[in-house]
Amino acid sequence: MRIDIITVSPELIKSPFEFSIIKRAIDKNLAEVHFHDLRKYALNDYGKIDDYQFGGGAGMVLMVEPIDKCISKLKSERTYDEIIYMTPDAPTLTQQTANTLSLNENIIILCGHYKGVDQRVRDLFITKEISIGDYVLSGGELGAAVLCDSIIRLIPGVLGDETSALTDSFQDDLLSPPVYTRPSEYKDLKVPEVLLSGNFPKIEEWRNEQAFERTKKIRPDLLED
Ligand code: ADE
Repeated sequence: MRIDIITVSPELIKSPFEFSIIKRAIDKNLAEVHFHDLRKYALNDYGKIDDYQFGGGAGMVLMVEPIDKCISKLKSERTYDEIIYMTPDAPTLTQQTANTLSLNENIIILCGHYKGVDQRVRDLFITKEISIGDYVLSGGELGAAVLCDSIIRLIPGVLGDETSALTDSFQDDLLSPPVYTRPSEYKDLKVPEVLLSGNFPKIEEWRNEQAFERTKKIRPDLLED
C-alpha cells in the first residue's frame, strides 16, 4: 500500500513512521509512505500557500492552486483509491473505516492547517473526509499519523501474530478484556484463577464476559445496535 501525505509541516508528521510496527511495515515494503511539502507547490518564491478568507474573519485558509498542483501531479503518476482530507468537521474515524481503507492500494491524505482549506479543494478533489475526534487540533498532521497507524497495522503481514488485530478493541464492537502477565500476584492483587487454569474454552468465555461488562460500563453506546 502506498500513502502520500500532503502537509505544510512534513517534519511534524515524520517521526511516528520511524518506530515500532509502522517502521517494520515500511522496512518490509508492506507500506510505502511519501511526504509532500505543500510549500513546494506555492504560488510564488516566498512560498505563498494561504490567504485571508473572503467575507472576513480570523485565520488563514489554504489556497486551492498549490493543493491542485500537488494532487494533480500525484494523480498523473498513478491512480488513487481515495483522496482523504483530515478535518474536525467530518465523520469520526472508526475501526470499520480503518479496516476498509487498509484494503486500498494508493491513497492521498491531505492535512488541513489554520482555518482549513478553500471549500473548492473539498468539492474538486476530496473523496473522503475524516476527523479523529470531537476536538480541534492545530493541523491535520497528528490526525493523519493516527489514521495511518490504524490502517498500516491491518495490512496482512504487518503484525507478527495474524490474529492479534482481530482481537483488538472495537473489531467486534467490544472493548478488549483485561490482560495480565507475570507475576501472578502483586501487592495482594491476584491474576484471575481462570487465566491460570489452562482451560481454554473457559478462558474464552471469561474474556467474552469481561469484554461485554467493560463495554457496558465504559462505552454503552457501542452496544446500542
Ligand atoms: N484537524 C484539526 N482537528 C482535527 C481532528 N479532530 N481530526 C482530524 N483533523 C483535524
